[in-house]
Amino acid sequence: MNEFVKVATVEEIPPGQGRRVDVDGYRIALFNVGGTFYAVDDTCTHEEASLAEGPVSGEIVACPKHGSRFHLPTGRVLSLPAVRPVNTYEVKVEGSDVLVLPQPRKGVGMPHKVR
Ligand code: FES
Repeated sequence: MNEFVKVATVEEIPPGQGRRVDVDGYRIALFNVGGTFYAVDDTCTHEEASLAEGPVSGEIVACPKHGSRFHLPTGRVLSLPAVRPVNTYEVKVEGSDVLVLPQPRKGVGMPHKVR
C-alpha cells in the first residue's frame, strides 16, 4: 500500500508557482495556489512538456509548449491542443512539509469534454 511521501516544504514553493517532483516512479507537478497545494502529472498529455514550468493563473496551469490549460484540482483539460486530462494526486501539508500520495486518483484518465 502506498504512503504519503514528503516532496517539499511549503516555503520552497511560493504561491502561484510549481515544481516538478519525482516520487516512486511518477513525475509529478506540484503547485501552490494561494496556500493550497495541488499535484498533477507533470507531463502534458499533448506532447513532452513539463507542466511544472508553465504559468499558473488561479487554479489553472498553461502548458509551456503549446498553451493547453489544465484545471489543477481535477486535471481536466480546458483548451486545445491537448484533449486528455492529467492524473491528479492527493496532497497534504503537515507542519511545513508537503506530502504527496504517489498513486493517481481513481476515475481519471478518461477523456473529458473540451470546452
Ligand atoms: S505539449 Fe502541452 S499543449 Fe502541446
